[in-house]
Amino acid sequence: MSGRRRRGSMPGNRGHVGPGLDKLDRRGVDGGVRGVDKLDRRTGDPARLAAFRALRAVTAEGAYANLVLAEHTAGLSHRDAGFATELVAGTCRSLGYYDAIISLAGGRPLTTLQPAVVDLLRLGAHQLLELRVPSHAAVAATVNLARTAVSQRVTGVVNAILRKIAALDADGWAERLRAERDDAEALIARHPQWIIDAFGEVLPAAELPALLAADNAPPSPHLVVRPDLAEVAELGGTPLRWSPFGALASGNPAEIAAVHQGRAGVQDEGSQLVAWALSRPDAPFGPWLDLCAGPGGKAALLAGLARRQHTALLASELQPHRAALVARALHAYPDPTPLVIAADGTRPAWPANAFARVMLDAPCSGLGALRRRPESRWRRQPSDLDDLVPLQRALLATAIASARPGGLIAYVTCSPHHRETVEVVEAAAGVELLDASEALPEVPDAARGHYVQLWPHRHGTDAMFLALLRKTEATQ
Ligand SMILES: C[S@@+](CC[C@H](N)C(=O)[O-])C[C@H]1O[C@@H](n2cnc3c(N)ncnc32)[C@H](O)[C@@H]1O
Repeated sequence: MSGRRRRGSMPGNRGHVGPGLDKLDRRGVDGGVRGVDKLDRRTGDPARLAAFRALRAVTAEGAYANLVLAEHTAGLSHRDAGFATELVAGTCRSLGYYDAIISLAGGRPLTTLQPAVVDLLRLGAHQLLELRVPSHAAVAATVNLARTAVSQRVTGVVNAILRKIAALDADGWAERLRAERDDAEALIARHPQWIIDAFGEVLPAAELPALLAADNAPPSPHLVVRPDLAEVAELGGTPLRWSPFGALASGNPAEIAAVHQGRAGVQDEGSQLVAWALSRPDAPFGPWLDLCAGPGGKAALLAGLARRQHTALLASELQPHRAALVARALHAYPDPTPLVIAADGTRPAWPANAFARVMLDAPCSGLGALRRRPESRWRRQPSDLDDLVPLQRALLATAIASARPGGLIAYVTCSPHHRETVEVVEAAAGVELLDASEALPEVPDAARGHYVQLWPHRHGTDAMFLALLRKTEATQ
Protein backbone atom coordinates (compact mmCIF):
# COMPACT_ATOMS: atom_id res chain seq x y z
CA MET A 1 0.00 0.00 0.00
CA SER A 2 1.30 3.48 -0.75
CA GLY A 3 2.18 5.60 2.25
CA ARG A 4 1.18 8.77 0.47
CA ARG A 5 -1.86 10.96 0.80
CA ARG A 6 -3.16 12.97 -2.12
CA ARG A 7 -1.04 16.04 -2.65
CA GLY A 8 -2.72 19.12 -1.26
CA SER A 9 -4.93 17.09 1.05
CA MET A 10 -2.72 17.65 4.07
CA PRO A 11 -3.55 20.55 6.33
CA GLY A 12 -0.40 22.35 7.44
CA ASN A 13 0.31 23.55 10.98
CA ARG A 14 -0.97 26.98 10.00
CA GLY A 15 -0.33 29.67 12.51
CA HIS A 16 0.33 27.25 15.35
CA VAL A 17 3.95 26.25 15.04
CA GLY A 18 6.35 27.40 12.42
CA PRO A 19 5.12 27.59 8.87
CA GLY A 20 2.36 25.45 7.40
CA LEU A 21 3.73 22.24 5.97
CA ASP A 22 1.93 23.17 2.77
CA LYS A 23 3.87 26.44 2.53
CA LEU A 24 7.14 24.60 2.97
CA ASP A 25 5.95 22.43 0.16
CA ARG A 26 5.76 25.11 -2.46
CA ARG A 27 8.95 24.17 -4.31
CA GLY A 28 7.59 20.77 -5.24
CA VAL A 29 7.81 17.33 -3.85
CA ASP A 30 11.59 16.97 -4.13
CA GLY A 31 12.14 20.39 -2.54
CA GLY A 32 15.53 20.55 -4.26
CA VAL A 33 16.63 17.02 -3.35
CA ARG A 34 19.27 15.49 -5.60
CA GLY A 35 18.63 12.49 -7.85
CA VAL A 36 18.27 9.39 -5.78
CA ASP A 37 20.53 7.05 -7.75
CA LYS A 38 23.46 9.44 -7.73
CA LEU A 39 22.92 9.98 -4.05
CA ASP A 40 23.01 6.30 -3.15
CA ARG A 41 26.53 6.13 -4.55
CA ARG A 42 27.76 9.27 -2.81
CA THR A 43 26.57 9.01 0.78
CA GLY A 44 28.09 6.72 3.37
CA ASP A 45 25.28 7.32 5.83
CA PRO A 46 22.34 5.16 4.74
CA ALA A 47 20.35 5.59 7.97
CA ARG A 48 20.32 9.40 7.85
CA LEU A 49 19.69 9.37 4.11
CA ALA A 50 16.72 7.01 4.52
CA ALA A 51 15.42 9.20 7.36
CA PHE A 52 15.77 12.34 5.24
CA ARG A 53 13.93 10.80 2.30
CA ALA A 54 11.17 9.49 4.51
CA LEU A 55 10.77 12.86 6.23
CA ARG A 56 10.63 14.61 2.84
CA ALA A 57 7.79 12.29 1.87
CA VAL A 58 5.96 13.09 5.12
CA THR A 59 6.32 16.88 4.96
CA ALA A 60 6.14 17.41 1.19
CA GLU A 61 3.79 14.68 0.03
CA GLY A 62 1.64 14.19 3.11
CA ALA A 63 2.80 10.59 3.51
CA TYR A 64 2.23 8.68 6.73
CA ALA A 65 5.53 8.31 8.59
CA ASN A 66 4.97 4.67 9.57
CA LEU A 67 4.26 3.60 6.01
CA VAL A 68 7.07 5.50 4.28
CA LEU A 69 9.52 4.38 6.94
CA ALA A 70 8.82 0.78 6.02
CA GLU A 71 9.51 1.66 2.37
CA HIS A 72 12.72 3.60 2.99
CA THR A 73 14.29 1.33 5.58
CA ALA A 74 13.80 -1.85 3.53
CA GLY A 75 17.23 -3.32 2.84
CA LEU A 76 19.01 -1.42 5.64
CA SER A 77 20.81 -3.27 8.42
CA HIS A 78 18.76 -3.79 11.59
CA ARG A 79 20.80 -1.10 13.34
CA ASP A 80 20.47 1.48 10.55
CA ALA A 81 16.76 0.78 10.16
CA GLY A 82 16.28 1.30 13.92
CA PHE A 83 18.20 4.60 13.85
CA ALA A 84 16.32 5.86 10.79
CA THR A 85 13.00 4.94 12.41
CA GLU A 86 13.86 6.77 15.63
CA LEU A 87 15.05 9.79 13.65
CA VAL A 88 11.85 10.08 11.63
CA ALA A 89 9.32 9.09 14.29
CA GLY A 90 10.98 11.27 16.94
CA THR A 91 11.34 14.22 14.58
CA CYS A 92 7.71 13.96 13.44
CA ARG A 93 6.44 13.73 17.00
CA SER A 94 8.34 16.90 17.96
CA LEU A 95 7.93 18.77 14.69
CA GLY A 96 6.32 21.93 16.08
CA TYR A 97 8.85 22.11 18.91
CA TYR A 98 11.82 21.81 16.54
CA ASP A 99 10.31 24.29 14.09
CA ALA A 100 10.01 26.88 16.83
CA ILE A 101 13.65 26.28 17.85
CA ILE A 102 14.95 26.36 14.27
CA SER A 103 13.15 29.62 13.65
CA LEU A 104 14.59 31.19 16.83
CA ALA A 105 18.09 29.85 16.14
CA GLY A 106 18.00 30.99 12.52
CA GLY A 107 16.44 34.34 13.36
CA ARG A 108 14.09 33.95 10.40
CA PRO A 109 10.76 32.33 9.57
CA LEU A 110 10.97 28.78 8.25
CA THR A 111 9.21 29.85 5.05
CA THR A 112 12.41 31.66 4.02
CA LEU A 113 14.34 28.37 3.97
CA GLN A 114 14.31 25.72 1.27
CA PRO A 115 11.89 22.96 2.38
CA ALA A 116 14.56 20.26 2.13
CA VAL A 117 16.82 22.38 4.33
CA VAL A 118 14.08 22.66 6.95
CA ASP A 119 13.83 18.86 7.04
CA LEU A 120 17.61 18.54 7.42
CA LEU A 121 17.50 21.00 10.33
CA ARG A 122 14.63 19.12 11.95
CA LEU A 123 16.59 15.87 11.81
CA GLY A 124 19.68 17.63 13.12
CA ALA A 125 17.75 19.25 15.97
CA HIS A 126 16.37 15.87 17.01
CA GLN A 127 19.86 14.39 17.16
CA LEU A 128 21.17 17.36 19.15
CA LEU A 129 18.34 17.78 21.62
CA GLU A 130 16.81 14.37 22.11
CA LEU A 131 19.17 11.64 20.95
CA ARG A 132 22.52 11.39 22.60
CA VAL A 133 24.44 12.07 19.40
CA PRO A 134 27.50 14.23 20.24
CA SER A 135 27.08 17.78 18.89
CA HIS A 136 30.04 17.70 16.52
CA ALA A 137 28.86 14.39 15.02
CA ALA A 138 25.25 15.54 14.63
CA VAL A 139 26.30 18.78 12.94
CA ALA A 140 28.96 17.20 10.71
CA ALA A 141 26.68 14.34 9.61
CA THR A 142 23.81 16.70 8.81
CA VAL A 143 26.03 19.09 6.87
CA ASN A 144 27.40 16.13 4.92
CA LEU A 145 23.87 14.97 4.19
CA ALA A 146 22.98 18.51 3.08
CA ARG A 147 25.90 18.47 0.64
CA THR A 148 25.14 15.09 -0.87
CA ALA A 149 21.35 15.15 -0.72
CA VAL A 150 20.62 18.81 -1.54
CA SER A 151 23.60 20.95 -2.63
CA GLN A 152 26.90 22.43 -1.51
CA ARG A 153 25.14 25.84 -1.50
CA VAL A 154 22.98 24.99 1.51
CA THR A 155 25.73 23.61 3.74
CA GLY A 156 26.56 27.04 5.15
CA VAL A 157 23.07 27.77 6.41
CA VAL A 158 22.63 24.24 7.77
CA ASN A 159 25.94 24.44 9.60
CA ALA A 160 25.25 27.92 11.02
CA ILE A 161 21.74 27.14 12.33
CA LEU A 162 22.69 23.76 13.76
CA ARG A 163 25.62 25.29 15.62
CA LYS A 164 23.26 27.82 17.17
CA ILE A 165 20.89 25.02 18.17
CA ALA A 166 23.82 23.08 19.66
CA ALA A 167 24.77 26.09 21.77
CA LEU A 168 21.88 25.34 24.18
CA ASP A 169 20.67 22.03 25.59
CA ALA A 170 16.99 21.05 25.82
CA ASP A 171 16.57 22.90 29.14
CA GLY A 172 18.17 25.99 27.69
CA TRP A 173 15.83 25.92 24.71
CA ALA A 174 12.84 25.41 27.01
CA GLU A 175 13.81 28.58 28.84
CA ARG A 176 14.22 30.48 25.57
CA LEU A 177 10.86 29.25 24.28
CA ARG A 178 9.17 30.30 27.52
CA ALA A 179 10.57 33.78 27.02
CA GLU A 180 9.45 34.03 23.40
CA ARG A 181 6.32 31.92 22.82
CA ASP A 182 2.89 31.93 24.42
CA ASP A 183 2.52 28.26 23.53
CA ALA A 184 5.93 27.29 24.95
CA GLU A 185 4.58 24.73 27.45
CA ALA A 186 2.55 23.00 24.75
CA LEU A 187 5.56 22.88 22.43
CA ILE A 188 7.79 21.52 25.18
CA ALA A 189 5.15 18.82 25.76
CA ARG A 190 5.27 18.17 21.98
CA HIS A 191 1.59 18.90 21.36
CA PRO A 192 -0.27 21.76 19.63
CA GLN A 193 -2.08 23.91 22.21
CA TRP A 194 -5.55 23.22 20.78
CA ILE A 195 -5.11 19.47 21.30
CA ILE A 196 -4.03 19.96 24.91
CA ASP A 197 -7.07 22.21 25.39
CA ALA A 198 -9.35 19.51 23.91
CA PHE A 199 -7.88 16.88 26.28
CA GLY A 200 -8.22 19.32 29.16
CA GLU A 201 -11.97 19.57 28.54
CA VAL A 202 -12.47 15.89 29.33
CA LEU A 203 -9.58 14.93 31.63
CA PRO A 204 -8.69 16.25 35.11
CA ALA A 205 -5.86 18.80 34.82
CA ALA A 206 -3.66 16.77 37.17
CA GLU A 207 -3.62 13.89 34.66
CA LEU A 208 -2.71 15.93 31.59
CA PRO A 209 1.09 15.66 31.94
CA ALA A 210 0.85 11.87 32.20
CA LEU A 211 -1.36 11.70 29.09
CA LEU A 212 0.97 13.93 27.07
CA ALA A 213 3.98 11.86 28.15
CA ALA A 214 2.15 8.65 27.18
CA ASP A 215 1.39 10.15 23.74
CA ASN A 216 5.12 10.65 23.24
CA ALA A 217 6.06 7.03 23.90
CA PRO A 218 5.59 4.57 21.02
CA PRO A 219 3.25 1.77 22.17
CA SER A 220 4.22 -1.88 22.22
CA PRO A 221 1.93 -3.78 19.85
CA HIS A 222 -0.97 -5.86 21.15
CA LEU A 223 -2.08 -9.04 19.44
CA VAL A 224 -5.58 -10.45 19.19
CA VAL A 225 -6.99 -13.85 18.28
CA ARG A 226 -9.93 -14.44 15.99
CA PRO A 227 -12.22 -16.11 18.57
CA ASP A 228 -12.25 -19.91 18.28
CA LEU A 229 -9.69 -19.89 15.46
CA ALA A 230 -6.66 -19.43 17.76
CA GLU A 231 -5.83 -19.55 21.47
CA VAL A 232 -4.23 -16.61 23.30
CA ALA A 233 -1.42 -19.00 24.35
CA GLU A 234 -0.45 -19.30 20.67
CA LEU A 235 0.44 -15.59 20.66
CA GLY A 236 3.43 -16.20 22.92
CA GLY A 237 3.40 -12.96 24.94
CA THR A 238 1.83 -12.04 28.29
CA PRO A 239 -1.98 -12.03 28.14
CA LEU A 240 -3.52 -8.55 28.10
CA ARG A 241 -4.95 -7.13 31.29
CA TRP A 242 -8.65 -7.07 30.44
CA SER A 243 -9.32 -8.37 26.95
CA PRO A 244 -9.56 -12.18 27.02
CA PHE A 245 -8.63 -12.24 23.34
CA GLY A 246 -5.17 -10.69 23.34
CA ALA A 247 -1.55 -10.70 24.42
CA LEU A 248 1.40 -8.34 24.32
CA ALA A 249 3.56 -8.91 21.27
CA SER A 250 6.95 -10.24 22.30
CA GLY A 251 8.68 -10.26 18.92
CA ASN A 252 7.86 -9.72 15.29
CA PRO A 253 4.09 -10.43 14.99
CA ALA A 254 4.49 -11.58 11.38
CA GLU A 255 6.58 -14.50 12.60
CA ILE A 256 3.76 -15.90 14.76
CA ALA A 257 2.03 -18.74 12.92
CA ALA A 258 -1.48 -17.71 13.98
CA VAL A 259 -0.89 -14.15 12.72
CA HIS A 260 0.69 -15.39 9.53
CA GLN A 261 -2.32 -17.63 8.90
CA GLY A 262 -4.89 -14.90 9.62
CA ARG A 263 -6.17 -16.61 12.80
CA ALA A 264 -4.82 -13.69 14.84
CA GLY A 265 -3.79 -10.12 14.17
CA VAL A 266 -2.38 -6.93 15.65
CA GLN A 267 -4.92 -4.78 17.52
CA ASP A 268 -4.72 -2.35 20.42
CA GLU A 269 -6.43 -3.63 23.56
CA GLY A 270 -8.72 -0.58 23.52
CA SER A 271 -10.19 -1.66 20.19
CA GLN A 272 -10.60 -5.21 21.47
CA LEU A 273 -12.48 -3.95 24.51
CA VAL A 274 -14.97 -1.76 22.66
CA ALA A 275 -15.76 -4.55 20.17
CA TRP A 276 -16.20 -7.03 23.02
CA ALA A 277 -18.46 -4.53 24.85
CA LEU A 278 -20.92 -4.51 21.94
CA SER A 279 -21.30 -8.28 22.19
CA ARG A 280 -22.06 -8.44 25.92
CA PRO A 281 -25.38 -6.77 26.85
CA ASP A 282 -28.67 -8.56 26.01
CA ALA A 283 -30.02 -7.86 22.55
CA PRO A 284 -32.50 -9.50 20.17
CA PHE A 285 -31.24 -12.36 18.01
CA GLY A 286 -30.19 -11.42 14.47
CA PRO A 287 -27.29 -10.47 12.22
CA TRP A 288 -24.66 -7.89 13.20
CA LEU A 289 -23.41 -4.92 11.19
CA ASP A 290 -20.02 -3.15 11.18
CA LEU A 291 -20.81 0.10 9.36
CA CYS A 292 -17.28 1.55 8.93
CA ALA A 293 -15.22 -1.61 8.93
CA GLY A 294 -11.96 -0.78 7.13
CA PRO A 295 -9.30 -2.03 7.59
CA GLY A 296 -11.10 -4.70 9.57
CA GLY A 297 -9.59 -4.94 13.04
CA LYS A 298 -12.88 -4.75 14.92
CA ALA A 299 -14.75 -6.68 12.23
CA ALA A 300 -12.33 -9.59 12.68
CA LEU A 301 -13.12 -9.80 16.39
CA LEU A 302 -16.84 -9.12 15.95
CA ALA A 303 -17.16 -11.84 13.29
CA GLY A 304 -15.90 -14.45 15.76
CA LEU A 305 -18.11 -13.14 18.57
CA ALA A 306 -21.13 -13.20 16.24
CA ARG A 307 -20.40 -16.83 15.32
CA ARG A 308 -20.36 -17.70 19.01
CA GLN A 309 -23.90 -16.30 19.18
CA HIS A 310 -24.87 -18.34 16.07
CA THR A 311 -25.25 -15.35 13.83
CA ALA A 312 -23.26 -13.54 11.13
CA LEU A 313 -21.57 -10.19 10.56
CA LEU A 314 -21.98 -7.87 7.59
CA ALA A 315 -18.91 -5.62 7.29
CA SER A 316 -19.38 -2.47 5.21
CA GLU A 317 -16.77 0.12 4.27
CA LEU A 318 -16.82 3.16 1.97
CA GLN A 319 -13.40 2.75 0.34
CA PRO A 320 -13.14 -0.32 -1.90
CA HIS A 321 -9.42 -0.78 -1.16
CA ARG A 322 -10.14 -0.72 2.57
CA ALA A 323 -13.06 -3.14 2.08
CA ALA A 324 -10.51 -5.46 0.46
CA LEU A 325 -8.40 -5.20 3.63
CA VAL A 326 -11.47 -6.15 5.67
CA ALA A 327 -12.00 -9.23 3.51
CA ARG A 328 -8.36 -10.14 4.10
CA ALA A 329 -8.72 -9.70 7.87
CA LEU A 330 -11.71 -12.06 7.82
CA HIS A 331 -10.41 -14.66 5.39
CA ALA A 332 -9.51 -17.29 8.00
CA TYR A 333 -13.14 -17.73 9.09
CA PRO A 334 -14.55 -20.91 7.55
CA ASP A 335 -17.83 -20.97 5.65
CA PRO A 336 -20.03 -19.09 5.82
CA THR A 337 -17.35 -16.35 5.74
CA PRO A 338 -18.58 -12.95 6.91
CA LEU A 339 -19.95 -10.78 4.12
CA VAL A 340 -17.91 -7.68 3.18
CA ILE A 341 -19.27 -4.89 0.98
CA ALA A 342 -18.03 -1.48 -0.16
CA ALA A 343 -20.86 0.99 0.53
CA ASP A 344 -21.46 4.53 1.74
CA GLY A 345 -22.77 4.19 5.27
CA THR A 346 -24.82 7.37 4.94
CA ARG A 347 -26.81 5.69 2.13
CA PRO A 348 -27.44 2.19 3.46
CA ALA A 349 -27.55 -0.68 1.01
CA TRP A 350 -29.78 -2.73 3.35
CA PRO A 351 -33.28 -2.40 4.84
CA ALA A 352 -33.98 -0.55 8.10
CA ASN A 353 -34.57 -2.43 11.38
CA ALA A 354 -32.41 -5.36 10.21
CA PHE A 355 -29.50 -5.80 12.66
CA ALA A 356 -29.36 -6.94 16.28
CA ARG A 357 -25.98 -5.27 17.00
CA VAL A 358 -24.38 -2.42 15.06
CA MET A 359 -20.79 -1.18 15.39
CA LEU A 360 -20.15 2.38 14.25
CA ASP A 361 -16.40 2.96 14.58
CA ALA A 362 -16.66 6.40 13.09
CA PRO A 363 -14.09 8.27 11.00
CA CYS A 364 -12.62 10.74 13.50
CA SER A 365 -9.70 13.05 14.24
CA GLY A 366 -7.66 10.19 15.73
CA LEU A 367 -6.56 12.34 18.66
CA GLY A 368 -6.69 9.24 20.85
CA ALA A 369 -4.08 7.42 18.78
CA LEU A 370 -1.30 10.01 18.64
CA ARG A 371 1.16 7.44 20.04
CA ARG A 372 1.09 5.43 16.84
CA ARG A 373 0.89 8.25 14.25
CA PRO A 374 3.84 10.50 15.02
CA GLU A 375 3.07 13.26 12.50
CA SER A 376 -0.69 13.45 12.90
CA ARG A 377 -0.83 15.90 15.81
CA TRP A 378 0.79 18.63 13.66
CA ARG A 379 -1.41 17.92 10.65
CA ARG A 380 -4.75 17.95 12.37
CA GLN A 381 -6.56 21.27 12.73
CA PRO A 382 -9.52 22.20 14.94
CA SER A 383 -11.46 22.92 11.73
CA ASP A 384 -11.20 19.21 10.77
CA LEU A 385 -13.98 18.63 13.27
CA ASP A 386 -16.31 20.83 11.19
CA ASP A 387 -16.25 18.20 8.44
CA LEU A 388 -16.10 15.14 10.68
CA VAL A 389 -18.98 15.91 13.03
CA PRO A 390 -21.75 16.11 10.36
CA LEU A 391 -20.47 12.83 8.86
CA GLN A 392 -20.39 11.19 12.30
CA ARG A 393 -23.97 12.33 12.94
CA ALA A 394 -25.18 11.04 9.58
CA LEU A 395 -23.47 7.69 10.11
CA LEU A 396 -24.94 7.39 13.60
CA ALA A 397 -28.41 8.06 12.15
CA THR A 398 -27.83 5.17 9.71
CA ALA A 399 -26.51 2.92 12.48
CA ILE A 400 -29.66 3.56 14.50
CA ALA A 401 -31.98 3.11 11.51
CA SER A 402 -30.22 -0.18 10.68
CA ALA A 403 -30.75 -1.65 14.17
CA ARG A 404 -33.77 -3.68 15.20
CA PRO A 405 -36.01 -2.25 17.91
CA GLY A 406 -34.29 -3.26 21.15
CA GLY A 407 -31.02 -3.70 19.23
CA LEU A 408 -27.69 -2.30 20.34
CA ILE A 409 -25.54 0.32 18.69
CA ALA A 410 -21.92 1.01 19.70
CA TYR A 411 -20.69 4.48 18.79
CA VAL A 412 -16.88 4.40 18.92
CA THR A 413 -14.12 6.90 18.15
CA CYS A 414 -10.37 6.77 18.70
CA SER A 415 -10.65 10.31 19.98
CA PRO A 416 -11.77 11.74 23.30
CA HIS A 417 -12.66 15.14 21.74
CA HIS A 418 -15.99 16.32 23.19
CA ARG A 419 -17.40 17.45 19.84
CA GLU A 420 -17.01 14.10 18.09
CA THR A 421 -17.96 11.97 21.08
CA VAL A 422 -20.54 13.15 23.61
CA GLU A 423 -21.99 15.90 21.39
CA VAL A 424 -22.62 13.49 18.52
CA VAL A 425 -24.31 10.94 20.78
CA GLU A 426 -26.42 13.56 22.55
CA ALA A 427 -27.86 14.67 19.20
CA ALA A 428 -29.03 11.13 18.32
CA ALA A 429 -32.77 10.32 18.34
CA GLY A 430 -34.77 7.13 18.89
CA VAL A 431 -32.35 5.55 21.35
CA GLU A 432 -31.82 5.05 25.06
CA LEU A 433 -28.31 5.61 26.43
CA LEU A 434 -26.92 2.60 28.31
CA ASP A 435 -24.19 2.71 30.92
CA ALA A 436 -21.32 1.56 28.73
CA SER A 437 -18.96 0.88 31.63
CA GLU A 438 -21.35 -1.89 32.79
CA ALA A 439 -20.39 -3.76 29.62
CA LEU A 440 -16.71 -3.62 30.67
CA PRO A 441 -16.90 -4.12 34.46
CA GLU A 442 -13.33 -5.44 34.69
CA VAL A 443 -11.75 -2.22 33.36
CA PRO A 444 -11.04 0.29 36.18
CA ASP A 445 -11.46 4.06 35.84
CA ALA A 446 -13.12 3.72 32.45
CA ALA A 447 -16.41 5.56 33.10
CA ARG A 448 -16.85 9.01 31.60
CA GLY A 449 -20.41 9.66 32.72
CA HIS A 450 -22.47 7.03 30.91
CA TYR A 451 -19.71 6.45 28.41
CA VAL A 452 -16.46 4.50 28.42
CA GLN A 453 -13.29 6.51 27.90
CA LEU A 454 -9.99 4.65 27.80
CA TRP A 455 -6.68 6.52 28.11
CA PRO A 456 -3.08 5.69 27.17
CA HIS A 457 -1.75 6.79 30.59
CA ARG A 458 -4.47 4.99 32.59
CA HIS A 459 -5.07 1.87 30.56
CA GLY A 460 -2.08 1.57 28.23
CA THR A 461 -4.52 1.68 25.30
CA ASP A 462 -5.48 4.23 22.69
CA ALA A 463 -7.94 6.83 24.00
CA MET A 464 -11.03 5.00 22.71
CA PHE A 465 -14.49 6.40 23.39
CA LEU A 466 -17.53 4.13 23.55
CA ALA A 467 -21.24 4.91 23.83
CA LEU A 468 -23.76 2.06 23.94
CA LEU A 469 -27.26 2.86 22.72
CA ARG A 470 -30.42 0.76 22.60
CA LYS A 471 -32.93 1.45 19.83
CA THR A 472 -36.32 2.26 21.33
CA GLU A 473 -38.68 2.12 18.35
CA ALA A 474 -38.82 0.85 14.79
CA THR A 475 -37.64 3.16 12.00
CA GLN A 476 -40.52 3.93 9.59
C1 LIG B 1 -12.00 4.55 12.33
S1 LIG B 1 -11.95 3.79 10.79
C2 LIG B 1 -12.64 2.21 11.13
C3 LIG B 1 -11.64 1.26 11.72
C4 LIG B 1 -12.17 -0.17 11.73
N1 LIG B 1 -13.42 -0.28 12.44
C5 LIG B 1 -11.17 -1.14 12.36
O1 LIG B 1 -11.31 -1.48 13.53
O2 LIG B 1 -10.26 -1.57 11.65
C6 LIG B 1 -13.26 4.57 9.95
C7 LIG B 1 -13.53 4.00 8.58
O3 LIG B 1 -14.72 4.63 8.10
C8 LIG B 1 -14.63 4.71 6.70
N2 LIG B 1 -15.65 5.66 6.23
C9 LIG B 1 -15.54 7.00 6.09
N3 LIG B 1 -16.70 7.51 5.61
C10 LIG B 1 -17.54 6.46 5.48
C11 LIG B 1 -18.88 6.34 5.00
N4 LIG B 1 -19.58 7.40 4.58
N5 LIG B 1 -19.43 5.10 4.96
C12 LIG B 1 -18.72 4.03 5.37
N6 LIG B 1 -17.46 4.08 5.82
C13 LIG B 1 -16.88 5.28 5.86
C14 LIG B 1 -13.19 5.10 6.46
O4 LIG B 1 -12.81 4.80 5.14
C15 LIG B 1 -12.48 4.26 7.51
O5 LIG B 1 -12.07 3.06 6.96
